Amino acid sequence: MNIHIIGGGNLGTALAIGIANFTKGNKITVTRRNINHIRHLEPLGIKLSTDNKAGIEDSELIILSIKPYQVNGVLDEISAFCKGKIVASAVTGLSLEELHHKMNGGCSIIRIMPNIAAQFGESATCLAYATADDKSGDKVSNLFNQVGSAVRIEEKLMDAATVLGACGTAYALRYIRASMQAGIEIGFDAATALTIASQTAKGAAKMALEENVHPEQLIDRVTTPQGCTIVGLNEMEHQGFSSALIRGIKTSLEKIK
Ligand SMILES: NC(=O)c1ccc[n+]([C@@H]2O[C@H](COP(=O)([O-])OP(=O)(O)OC[C@H]3O[C@@H](n4cnc5c(N)ncnc54)[C@H](OP(=O)(O)O)[C@@H]3O)[C@@H](O)[C@H]2O)c1
Repeated sequence: MNIHIIGGGNLGTALAIGIANFTKGNKITVTRRNINHIRHLEPLGIKLSTDNKAGIEDSELIILSIKPYQVNGVLDEISAFCKGKIVASAVTGLSLEELHHKMNGGCSIIRIMPNIAAQFGESATCLAYATADDKSGDKVSNLFNQVGSAVRIEEKLMDAATVLGACGTAYALRYIRASMQAGIEIGFDAATALTIASQTAKGAAKMALEENVHPEQLIDRVTTPQGCTIVGLNEMEHQGFSSALIRGIKTSLEKIK
């Protein structure tokens, strides 16, 4: 596919790099007003432009990766060129209905909620689309499956997907940072503590994904009766570990709504 990514910021560049590195046969253009910030994409074969319409006619898929307040201006520019194409929007809070309305019909509209780990082939992407757009949605889903996992959800869960999947990157990194800080306190230099904490989190995530069992079943394998793991875990729970995470996620969701 020729893929046209509008908004080469944090997410747009992560998607472009991930698609360039982990998929085959796709040509990518990324637009933003100041392309000097993203010159590092060019050696990957990614075209850059300050013109949102440049090459759009040859594109099959247009990905919107701009802030909500930038949408109206951008759609005014491109909507006339999107007939017969797939428009996939990562814009938080912008509904399928609003998008269809703004695009005046004539194109397939897919809502996507990827995360920036797409750059490393590890996005947890959620997608929502109407039955009428099944074929296009499956195509986009297939693309995102190649840069991580892709799950179709009901549109009403899109805000929840934003919190759990996209904001979730920050929550997971904060866990890694806290582990790293503790690691330094118990004797490691910062670099070693970061490596151990990150790889341990990656390993735990891989186990959860591959074994597909409740995390407590895996935790049981690490906890010896009266051992050091369970006392540490219980102390974390006494201090509100799970509760803090759940409350944080729900607070993020309230903010989106
Ligand atoms: N970051 C994430 O982890 C993440 C995850 C999931 C979804 N999202 C959603 O994805 C969208 C983008 O988020 P982001 O974090 O990537 O924001 P961002 O870093 O601010 O990127 C937006 C980019 O759009 C460009 N832009 C602004 N106006 C434009 C225009 N008229 N034409 C073309 N490009 C334009 C900006 O560059 P110039 O100023 O140079 O034009 C900027 O680089 C948001 O709606 C966000 O909610 C983000």
